[in-house]
Amino acid sequence: MTDHTSPERNSTEVTVAGLGPMGSALAETFLDKGRSLTVWNRTPGKADGLVARGARRAATVAEAVAASPVTVMCLNDYTTMYAVFGSAGAALRDRTLVNLNSGTPREARAAADWAAARDVRYLDGAIMVPPPLVGDPGAVFLYGGPREVFDRHRTVLDDLGDPRLLGADPGLAVLLNTALLGLMYATLNGYLHGAALAASAGMTAAGFAELAAGWFMPVVLPPATFAGQAANMDEGLYPGDLGTMEMNLTAIEHITRTSVEQGVRPDHPELMRALAEQAIAEGHGTENYFAMFEVFKGSGARAAR
Ligand SMILES: NC(=O)c1ccc[n+]([C@@H]2O[C@H](COP(=O)([O-])OP(=O)(O)OC[C@H]3O[C@@H](n4cnc5c(N)ncnc54)[C@H](OP(=O)(O)O)[C@@H]3O)[C@@H](O)[C@H]2O)c1
Repeated sequence: MTDHTSPERNSTEVTVAGLGPMGSALAETFLDKGRSLTVWNRTPGKADGLVARGARRAATVAEAVAASPVTVMCLNDYTTMYAVFGSAGAALRDRTLVNLNSGTPREARAAADWAAARDVRYLDGAIMVPPPLVGDPGAVFLYGGPREVFDRHRTVLDDLGDPRLLGADPGLAVLLNTALLGLMYATLNGYLHGAALAASAGMTAAGFAELAAGWFMPVVLPPATFAGQAANMDEGLYPGDLGTMEMNLTAIEHITRTSVEQGVRPDHPELMRALAEQAIAEGHGTENYFAMFEVFKGSGARAAR
């Protein structure tokens, strides 16, 4: 009879360490795809449902890491990663860790150095979807790290969705995660501020959604806008023949003043106004709005690892 309580070395294909909402979704997906699976969690009871479906429960992190060539970790942060995997000792040697914890690029690079010092192959990843979408073909997982490690475990990574290796820098996945989350929050704030302006005149959220999302965004800000400006952004070229930063500042001032008149919080357009004024002060007044890229970059785009 199979002992499901004490994994041996390479007894399963993949291990998941960390069974919060996301780690559980990863583990369930591996089982859905027919993988043999070992699981470990600080609170062991969270593994009960997975064990009932055939997963092996590891009693210690060392057992969990030994059980599979690759361990996918999904803990709350990097500090927990060191606390948890620091106890795995020699079991880590010649294993692969795929870290799907959220964090910062510096934390990710330090974790890669920590792994290298222990003879552990390491990939740092970022999950771009909520738990219910894990396993969907459109579920993008970003990775940074060696191509050889990514290719070695590609079929396991494929189980979770659409894995994309951004480059060898282990900080890239969490960096791009924050870049895309920043886009999401700024877009949501712009939409919600606009909805608040519309509501100040009695318009329903549904009415604003139809105007903003049904017409304005697809027609005035279609996805092609961004690809169309990319070459100029890379070259630092912002021709203002169709509209200048000075013109945009005037429009932003109207948003600010209208917000005040209507009793809507003006913080969001005030920040945009300050940024546009900065762009003009830096000499971009006659260029188009994409020149704001130069203001945002600061010294960051030149910062080397
Ligand atoms: N949920 C999402 O929608 C989502 C989406 C994208 C990315 N992520 C990322 O995925 C990671 C996991 O997220 P999550 O939603 O599953 O929940 P979470 O609350 O961020 O992490 C829960 C996991 O961390 C473990 N943990 C926390 N402190 C610990 C400690 N001191 N020692 C050992 N284990 C510890 C928990 O163990 P216990 O069960 O014992 O508490 C549990 O396994 C996070 O980095 C999150 O940012 C989540």
